[in-house]
Amino acid sequence: MRLLVKNIARIVGIRPAGVERVCGAGMAELPELTDAWLLAEEGRIAAFGPMSELGPIEADETVDAEGGTLFPSFCDSHTHLVYAGSREQEFLDKINGLSYEEIARRGGGILNSADRLRAASEDELYEQAMERIREIIRMGTGCVEIKSGYGLATADELKMLRVIRRIRETSPIAVRATFLGAHAVARDYIGRQSEYVDLVCREMIPAVAREGLAEFVDVFCDEGFFTVEETARIMRAGAEHGLVPKIHANELAVSGGVQVGVEHGALSVDHLERMDAAAIAALRGTRTMPTLLPGAAFFLGMSYPPAREMIAAGLGVALASDYNPGSSPSGNMKMVVSLASIRMRMTPAEAINAATLNSAYAMGVSGDYGSITVGKVANFFLTDPIPSVAFLPYAYTTPLVRRVFLQGREIGQAAV
Ligand code: NIG
Ligand code: FE
Repeated sequence: MRLLVKNIARIVGIRPAGVERVCGAGMAELPELTDAWLLAEEGRIAAFGPMSELGPIEADETVDAEGGTLFPSFCDSHTHLVYAGSREQEFLDKINGLSYEEIARRGGGILNSADRLRAASEDELYEQAMERIREIIRMGTGCVEIKSGYGLATADELKMLRVIRRIRETSPIAVRATFLGAHAVARDYIGRQSEYVDLVCREMIPAVAREGLAEFVDVFCDEGFFTVEETARIMRAGAEHGLVPKIHANELAVSGGVQVGVEHGALSVDHLERMDAAAIAALRGTRTMPTLLPGAAFFLGMSYPPAREMIAAGLGVALASDYNPGSSPSGNMKMVVSLASIRMRMTPAEAINAATLNSAYAMGVSGDYGSITVGKVANFFLTDPIPSVAFLPYAYTTPLVRRVFLQGREIGQAAV
């Protein structure tokens, strides 16, 4: 199958092969080509160039971009989009003045979702999650990481991970799976946290590995959740079973989560609303990608991560949605890019790099996704005609994503 896209006003995010992430000042560069065409073949990007040099090309399908801009699909490297029901009651509690921690202490929060998940069948969970998958595909996401962590018991964690596997097998979007048994202490184990950590290490991780259900292991390393020592233990147990760490850190407090993640070779440390100089310094010169989730800061009314300081320190940063029922009930990556520009003063170029190439890196897939590169998977979207790249985050609620292509095929409304 050969797909030719013509009359593209601008192709954005062009990179030579082998660029696995961009850091520091390099984040400001978003290479583009104007007045262009692109050819996809057998699901991969085969060639692109200026319209003035478009010779006769045989294609099975030709699409006229009609002056729209072509972006690489968003890569959303941190979501919890498999969940049952919704939690708008807690939204009301927050409006009425309760904090995220207070809601969690009352047995709301993650434990509330765990109760609902336990009661839902695998099919129900799959159907609900697929609604969200269809929604994010329409909004331009082509690769997504999904975490477990609302099971909190071996059978229910496995149930969630099997749903994630089924999404991977049945949807055109690329999916990576993360085991997050240490998202909260299960209700039955309250007061016996170290026994719960034993369960995660001795029973859950081996079971997840046996079925090959996850690439990554995550821990909510934060005040009121899991300690640095517990996080280290879980990462070691994960490593013994081939699971690479991606850690929730520094959302509620400067927790030491960044440092312990870096020490254990975490691929990413995520959230980072609370950072200090030591945490930023710990990330320099490492392979760990700091990942910022401004949707959560927005929804919970928290301070935003210090993106400018991190970029000034030479770090690359990634952006992700954190799509989940408690702290970010949205998987809209265009909105995430807008929030990064508006609230963290990331330039549109930096924010788009962070939401494509660097977020692909943060889930270990930047060799195949995250930029317009010959040989990468042909996942991209076309916008309505826009005057410049900056218009994308500027028009922060306009649905500019017009046509979506995954694996070199257009995804029609019916197909998603
Ligand atoms: O990333 N911080 C921990 N976990 C999620 C929230 C999950 C929930 O509230 O259900 C997050 O924000
Ligand atoms: Fe999260």
